[in-house]
Amino acid sequence: MKQKTVWYCTSCGNESSKWMGRCPACGEWNTMVEAPVEQKSASSRDSRSASYGAEERRKPVRLAEIENGAESRVSLGLGEVDRLLGGGIVPGSLVLVGGEPGIGKSTLSLQIPLRSGLKTLYVTGEESARQVKMRAERLSRGIGKQEGVGADPAGGTSGQQVDIFCETCIDNIVEQAAANPPQLMIVDSVQTMYTSTIESTPGSVSQIKEVAAMLLRFAKQTGVPVLLIGHITKDGYIAGPKILEHIVDVVLQFEGENRGSYRILRSIKNRFGSTSDIAVFEMTGEGLKEVRNPSEMLIPMHESGLSGAAICVTLDGTRPLLFEVQALVSSAVYGTAQRSATGFDTRRLNMLLAVLEKRAGFHLSAKDVFLNMAGGLKVSDPAADLAVSCAVLSSNFDFPLPLDCCFAAEVGLSGEIRPVTQTDRRIAEAARLGFKKIFVSSYSSYDAKSAKGIQVMKVSDIPALVKALFKAS
Ligand code: TYD
Ligand code: MG
Repeated sequence: MKQKTVWYCTSCGNESSKWMGRCPACGEWNTMVEAPVEQKSASSRDSRSASYGAEERRKPVRLAEIENGAESRVSLGLGEVDRLLGGGIVPGSLVLVGGEPGIGKSTLSLQIPLRSGLKTLYVTGEESARQVKMRAERLSRGIGKQEGVGADPAGGTSGQQVDIFCETCIDNIVEQAAANPPQLMIVDSVQTMYTSTIESTPGSVSQIKEVAAMLLRFAKQTGVPVLLIGHITKDGYIAGPKILEHIVDVVLQFEGENRGSYRILRSIKNRFGSTSDIAVFEMTGEGLKEVRNPSEMLIPMHESGLSGAAICVTLDGTRPLLFEVQALVSSAVYGTAQRSATGFDTRRLNMLLAVLEKRAGFHLSAKDVFLNMAGGLKVSDPAADLAVSCAVLSSNFDFPLPLDCCFAAEVGLSGEIRPVTQTDRRIAEAARLGFKKIFVSSYSSYDAKSAKGIQVMKVSDIPALVKALFKAS
């Protein structure tokens, strides 16, 4: 009998009965992959209902009678990761850590049991026990050192309570873990695991979905939190994190340039806390080190001002972040001007350039414009608009901006400067870092108390901004 197959979109997880060049759900081209149809046996139906946390039939429970689980969070030993999760990991939750190969997922996931002292089952399908041991030794050295400095009061452990399990059959893993439940389970990586109930290769869409579903069921039934690692490749070819996003409770994603030493962990989804929050780490010879004050590292220490640089105040989740936006504007060598942006949406850059040209009369259409966000950051906060515009103008006129100025506002299509969310917090953070002036929209509302020691410059449109900046210098 011919085996039935279904097609999945690797970009959004949409399911279809036939191949299509373009996914009708997300509109991406060439993303459909074939996978055998999952057997809808009695056991898989059971498991589906069980994934909501029950062996037996469940009954509705009055909301007021449900126990409050807020205080039962478990610390992972890394303050920044705990903060991202909303104050520690929730027992019985499934957390996905995604990122490109080599970015530091395995490093982070081994640092967690070493730091936290939790009884951990560390399952690896990628490395041998000896490789893990070598890495753990390196990491323990780092922990020892930091303890001396007093940076980490939790300190480290010698790895006594960590069990390494080199296995890829998820059925066996879940069975072993259920027999001797740890306080934390780590699975590295979802792409290497397989279940024998499905006949496709590890890493295929149906395997990934089933492995994740089994781990979720395990977590909910035993109350053991599970940290699941998933690879993403640049071209997004490997199915995984996107499809898993619906299943898991929390998605943390690693970003950053592999070449640079900074790594950003972003919470994309969190059923127990806020999303789009970030934590910054530095990759050192002894593992990932938390950067508690990322703004301080992202702001350059120029003695004198350089043209083309402007400091932007963005807000990722709950934390304001200051960093440098760099622009280079030069006459176009070829007929058409080039526009290129790293860490910023190129279409947004084009829009800002059009606004500067049309609304404020700056001739930029014949200029090449290159834009870069310091530290390999990716910025989507509209508050970066004003700093981007200022960096472009500064480079265009070769006019360095004052070093003690920073910017936080959106620029609209008619050249108006619009307010952004949580202006108070941005102002307070800029003041804390020693900035003397912050440019915001004149329509912003903020608490005057946050503006201690800093002058808040309110501007309503681009011409007013230019006037204020020239006056400011
Ligand atoms: P790794 O955690 O293996 O990446 P992933 O699991 O996401 O594929 O990290 C790999 C990189 O980190 C590798 O290039 C080496 C570097 N690294 C350090 O710089 N210092 C360290 O202490 C460790 C363990 C790794
Ligand atoms: Mg790895």
